[in-house]
Amino acid sequence: MRREWWKNAVIYQVYPRSYGDSDGDGIGDLQGIRQRLDHLQWLGVDAVWLSPFYPSPMKDFGYDISDYRNVHPLFGSLQDFDDLIADLHARDMRLLIDYVPNHSSDQHPWFLESRSGRDHPRREWYVWRDPKPDGSLPNNWLSVFGGPAWTLDEHTGQFYLHSFLPEQPDLNWRHPEVKAAMFDVVRFWLSRGVDGLRIDTAHYILKDPDLRDNPPATGGVAFHRPMGEYDRQLHLYDKGHPDAHAVYRELRGVLDAFDPVRQAVSIGEIHVFDWHEWATYYGEALDELHMPFNFGLLTVPWDALAIRQVVNAVEAALPSGAWPNQVLGNHDESRVASRAGPLQTRVAMLLLLTLRGTPTLYQGDELGLEDVPIPAGREQDPWGLQVPGMSRDPVRAPIPWQDVPNGGFCPPNVESWLPLPADLAHLSVEAQRRNEGSMLHFTRRLLALRRLTPALREGTYRPLDTPEGTFAYLREFEGESVLTALNFTGQQRQLALGNLPTGTVLLSTHGEREAVDLTKFTLRPDEGCVLVLRGG
Ligand code: NOJ
Repeated sequence: MRREWWKNAVIYQVYPRSYGDSDGDGIGDLQGIRQRLDHLQWLGVDAVWLSPFYPSPMKDFGYDISDYRNVHPLFGSLQDFDDLIADLHARDMRLLIDYVPNHSSDQHPWFLESRSGRDHPRREWYVWRDPKPDGSLPNNWLSVFGGPAWTLDEHTGQFYLHSFLPEQPDLNWRHPEVKAAMFDVVRFWLSRGVDGLRIDTAHYILKDPDLRDNPPATGGVAFHRPMGEYDRQLHLYDKGHPDAHAVYRELRGVLDAFDPVRQAVSIGEIHVFDWHEWATYYGEALDELHMPFNFGLLTVPWDALAIRQVVNAVEAALPSGAWPNQVLGNHDESRVASRAGPLQTRVAMLLLLTLRGTPTLYQGDELGLEDVPIPAGREQDPWGLQVPGMSRDPVRAPIPWQDVPNGGFCPPNVESWLPLPADLAHLSVEAQRRNEGSMLHFTRRLLALRRLTPALREGTYRPLDTPEGTFAYLREFEGESVLTALNFTGQQRQLALGNLPTGTVLLSTHGEREAVDLTKFTLRPDEGCVLVLRGG
């Protein structure tokens, strides 16, 4: 089989509420994305992952779906979706959609039917349990977004399970009809031409069938950042049940059988930080998810040693033949420019686009956007409203396209659903396109370099011994050696790479550089370089 397209691809995440607003309601939509495809093509990405655009009461901004087979009128229509995919394909880009299998909206007809009576044929499509004899909750499980994971339905006297909001009841994947219906959803979108799925909270779909209580936590945090009450438990039983593997093997079969030529890809959101357990989602015979998202780079402080260690740990845990992937941001995480600091945004982009594996770029990271402060009264995220400090609003601010009021995202006279970044004069796409030295141009050059350099796409990964505060690695392929050297500090750092031949700098975060003698190679403060080694 020819090399799968997604191994060569760079994926770009579009959060539809915040990309482009074509109808002037302050919320982005599918036509608004279509109007911005020139940007994506000019930038040089290969595939778009589109966050949810389905009908939804928007309690969790689209991750609460009330119809899996349609488009929310806020975002447009199925025709708009078909037009978007046709436009992307015409530009030789692919489309991945967000598939949300763990839960629907409480307004989905399936749930309305399920909750209508204990004897309804759809009752078992969700997870219902009697209260304990004393009337209390069925067990101690907690919702990720705060509070218990159970809500009582007064009408039928039973609790239903929701790993997230009460308005996001968990589907019961142990029920064969649920699985069949949800696989049909996949076929529906495949038949409209989608090229793959990003699978939301993929490791949540199956839980302990006996619903055992989670034991108390022995310390540390459940996720990679503190989550309050949720951290007090060890989440042994409420997610990550091994029965999910069989589901993902079957799902893989659905994708492969639908159209083997298309090679639709499955990428699972798996927040598991025991890398050996994480790697099991590739499947023993590499027959489950094509890639579980690797959130390693999001879990560590912005520090050369910590980054090197996590990159190496993930590499070491990969099953033989499994294809890696890299992530530095998404719609749930503080932006990399805020985590790493503005001086390190280019180093971060170099890291993301030169490590081994398929990178996923979050919209706006190509502009070096930082988290946007949200004024009181304009908060939107239910998580942040429920658990202080957890708001994801700052990373979901609309994209600034031009230096005009509302940044060209929506008309100047309407209020955008979240505020835009300030400093449009420097940050907007238009301003950065005018400036050859901008982050945007840097990202574009890097994407072009990756496309033209087989070692960066396909090469092996070999970390090198370098001084504290730096991280350097070789990517080698068919006689070509490419070196990435990154300085994570604000001081100059000399690298002693005397055993390597001379290198020619292909790209530096700091502009032009001469050919480099690697015996006395000095990285400037906050500098990152990609070099091709001569005679290597
Ligand atoms: C993960 C998604 O990325 C996040 O935005 C959402 O709130 C939860 N899953 C629940 O669907």
